[in-house]
Amino acid sequence: MRDNIAPITKAVIPAAGLGTRFLPATKAMPKEMLPVVDKPAIQYVVEEAAASGLDDILMIIGRNKNALANHFDRVTELEIALEKKGDHTKLSRVNHSNTLADIHFVRQGDPLGLGHAVLRSRKHIGDESFAVLLGDDLIDERDELLTPMIEESQRRQTTIIALMEVPAESIHLYGCAAVEETDDPNVVRVTGLVEKPSAEDAPSNLAIIGRYVLRPEIFDILEVTPPGKGGEIQLTDALQVLAADETSGGVYGVVFKGRRYDTGDRVDYIKSVLQLALAREDLGPELAPWVRQLAAGLPEHPLADEEKELLEEMAN
Ligand code: UTP
Repeated sequence: MRDNIAPITKAVIPAAGLGTRFLPATKAMPKEMLPVVDKPAIQYVVEEAAASGLDDILMIIGRNKNALANHFDRVTELEIALEKKGDHTKLSRVNHSNTLADIHFVRQGDPLGLGHAVLRSRKHIGDESFAVLLGDDLIDERDELLTPMIEESQRRQTTIIALMEVPAESIHLYGCAAVEETDDPNVVRVTGLVEKPSAEDAPSNLAIIGRYVLRPEIFDILEVTPPGKGGEIQLTDALQVLAADETSGGVYGVVFKGRRYDTGDRVDYIKSVLQLALAREDLGPELAPWVRQLAAGLPEHPLADEEKELLEEMAN
């Protein structure tokens, strides 16, 4: 294990997936650009990284890269128009995204999987520990996750992943961890990892969610990780190598109990828009009575059927 106690300043945000669950919205636009209330999902992710002190961000981008790069760039004509109107509130909203961090971009080429996307950051990251934040995975800013993960990685000098309890019938959608308790109730030692197991094969109901603090050792492992589940080079498979190697310092998991939304999933996306809009001072008071009215008028049975269908669809 390398001695690696320098502060963590770099974050990698993979945003090169095909986003097939959200077609046709994602035909000409990356799913990370879907608006959640009035900001693209990826801006929340960049804000989260910046709030944890990570001011050097590398985005891994795929086709339709321009929308992402443009969003984090200046738009002079818009600035001039708003300046002329004297609309400083909107002007600062427009400019906020280009002042958050130093943002770099690298192309993934073919989307060969999350592990492959992370490997594309090797040159930029060099020999440092770094964070990975999935560009379609939102952590509610009212609930802390990344900062405690970074602190834990500094304290233990190891790789840290984020875990969250999910219902047994959903575990096949995630990477899943076998774990042992530690003396901290919020931290577990990871003894094994398996990508998208069936409910019967899952070693626990702890799912890997989209935040990681990795050490540079991961790159050598990713270089030789063969395609796994779905024919993709899986980050989970590389992490399993570390978890199984006692000399590596192992892998630890921070168990998250807060609010998290997978905006690449249609139902979760809709939930994220509603929850975050309801929490906003400028929108919540107007929206809440309407949501209450809508909920009160919803019939029980059709919803239950729809839920069943959704579960069946997810299981296939
Ligand atoms: P997902 O599995 O959710 O993305 O990857 P996907 O493949 O785009 O999803 P669907 O199933 O087709 O809808 C998790 C994260 O990893 C990125 C995605 O952009 C997302 O942020 N990713 C995935 C890459 O950057 N490259 C890849 O090859 C795969």
